[in-house]
Amino acid sequence: MMELVLTERKESVVLLTINRPEGLNALNRELIKTLSELLAELAGDDSIRALIITGAGDRAFVAGADIGEMAGMDRPEAEILARFGSRLMRQISQFPVPVIAAINGFALGGGFELALACDLRLASDGARFAFPETGLGITPGFGGTQRLARLAGAMPAFDLIMTGRRIKAEEARDLGLVMEVTAATDLLPRAWELAETIAGKAPAAVREAKRAIRMGLDLPLDEGLTLEEGGFGRCFETGDQKRAMSAFMNKEEIPPFEGK
Ligand code: COA
Repeated sequence: MMELVLTERKESVVLLTINRPEGLNALNRELIKTLSELLAELAGDDSIRALIITGAGDRAFVAGADIGEMAGMDRPEAEILARFGSRLMRQISQFPVPVIAAINGFALGGGFELALACDLRLASDGARFAFPETGLGITPGFGGTQRLARLAGAMPAFDLIMTGRRIKAEEARDLGLVMEVTAATDLLPRAWELAETIAGKAPAAVREAKRAIRMGLDLPLDEGLTLEEGGFGRCFETGDQKRAMSAFMNKEEIPPFEGK
């Protein structure tokens, strides 16, 4: 059977490719489960320094949750699905190292939500984003109402979710939802380059910084600042901090980080 998620590793960076191109990579339960299990396994691997997620084929990142599976659901089944999907999105946002979405086509509904759960979003110039849910009789259920409003503000969230209108990569960038728009052929090379830049920084510092940014977003400023102080302190327990700062003081080149 074809694997639903392909994994490729180059040194300390892992690329996950959602691989159901004939269904435009729509998230069925099997795919959500596979991704979730993979992320749980990868989260425990201390040698990973950045993760990239993309979609197979040249048409879609992820065209949403699987409508065929949802069509006949009742309320309890739908609530279970929302919890299941939301848990996957939390695994992404809480993944210990930065996660980059390389959005190569349609990012609709659950696919838009998956992208919003990532830390950094790159999009090809052909990428298209929408929340079609209200036109199908439902609301976004995998975090869309919450993450879109927090990332772009309430009005873009009202606009996109109430109208279902489809936006291009450039508009997503103007809304602050996409960091860079690239030509289709440049998307993955740029994602690897960005991941490798991050992977070249001190691993403990990157993990602490992600944790502080992520957790801080949900905290009052004073609590976020206290959290940051703790992470700053923990960095000073690493040899990487000692070696980098002593090299700087001795006017030497900063040695590659060892992750300890
Ligand atoms: N759930 C289930 N199947 C999906 C899907 C989804 N979210 N999105 C696409 N597919 C399937 C199609 O049913 C089709 O399957 P088939 O070949 O067995 O008929 C296949 O993927 C290709 O899609 P198709 O609709 O033929 O391509 P298109 O180029 O005409 O249209 C889209 C592309 C993305 C505009 C269209 O597929 C679409 O609107 N998909 C649903 C998007 C959506 O509403 N997602 C949010 C769900 S809450």
